[in-house]
This record gives sequence, structure tokens and C-alpha cells, in this order.
Amino acid sequence: MKISLISQNVKETHLCGAILAQALEEGGIVKNKGAAIVSLEGNLGSGKTEFVKGMGQALKIKKKILSPTFLLLKSYPLKGSRFSNFYHLDCYRVLAKNMMSLGLEDIFKDKQSIVVIEWGDLLKNVLKSDIIRIKFKVLNKKERLIEFVIK
Ligand SMILES: Nc1ncnc2c1ncn2[C@@H]1O[C@H](COP(=O)(O)OP(=O)(O)OP(=O)(O)O)[C@@H](O)[C@H]1O
Ligand SMILES: [Mg+2]
Repeated sequence: MKISLISQNVKETHLCGAILAQALEEGGIVKNKGAAIVSLEGNLGSGKTEFVKGMGQALKIKKKILSPTFLLLKSYPLKGSRFSNFYHLDCYRVLAKNMMSLGLEDIFKDKQSIVVIEWGDLLKNVLKSDIIRIKFKVLNKKERLIEFVIK
């Protein structure tokens, strides 16, 4: 299934992220046995981190979500959610094998986790096919095409 949305500003991109977080909470779209893995794919500045901020708001994460470009991996505990942890990763400029050395295999196995990966297409060789893919395209200064690809 492919759902295409056009976001006209940052707030609408936050809303798109919140919609995904809500759907994950409902449980219906998580088919895989391990973590709920979300791959965010699209150019620099296409809105991936803003989308994650919207997910964080919906999941009531109080800490400010910043781009993990230099830290690679950030984790946030969740309260009042069916999940217990939210992981935010950024694969930009990182080799997949270095990324995996962070202990991601265990995180990927944990049913209690949501794992959101910016530039997840760079990890596609190690990710299973039943992940949720979100593709971002810059249409113009303010508009972004956001496509949810759910199998
Ligand atoms: N509709 C929109 N949705 C999201 N961001 C928008 C939108 N319109 C303008 N922007 C701007 O585009 C930029 C998006 O930045 P963001 O950090 O989310 O991109 P990114 O895809 O995570 O990039 P990177 O690959 O560098 O991590 C921000 O500066 C934001 O203000
Ligand atoms: Mg980013």
C-alpha cells in the first residue's frame, strides 16, 4: 500500500509523523515480529527530522528531538505507550557495517521498540523487507511529498 501526502509546511510534516505514531500505537500496521522499524528516505532538507519530531510529540516524548547526524543513535524512553523505547538513527555518511556495530541487531529484535532510521535506504541490505518506508521529496521551498510505503 502506498499513501501519498503533500505537506505544505513544517507543521503539516509534524502531523504526518504524528499520524504514523498513532497508527503504530493502534498496532494494526506492525506485522514484523521484532521492533517497528521505519525507514525515512529522501534528500537533505526534505523533512525527515521534522517528521520524527512530529512522531515524538504524538508519543509524548518531552526531550527535544534533534537531528542525530553526529551522534548516530539517540534513544528516548516512552511512557503510557504500547512501546517502551523510541530510537532515532541517522545513517548519513555512515557505513552500514559501522552502524550495525552500535548493537542494532538487538534493538531490531525488541518488540517493545520503535526504531526510526533517517537515510534507512543506506541500510537496506540489513533491514528486512517488512519495514515501513517513508519517502520524502522536496517539491518547492515549502512543499514536501511524503509517501508511506506499507507492505
Ligand atoms: N513542508 C515542510 N516539511 C518539513 N520541512 C520543511 C517544510 N517546508 C520547509 N521545510 C524546511 O525544510 C527543512 C527540513 O529539515 P529536516 O532537518 O527535517 O530535513 P532532513 O530530511 O532531516 O535532512 P537531513 O538529511 O540533513 O537530516 C527545515 O529547514 C524546514 O524548516
Ligand atoms: Mg535529518
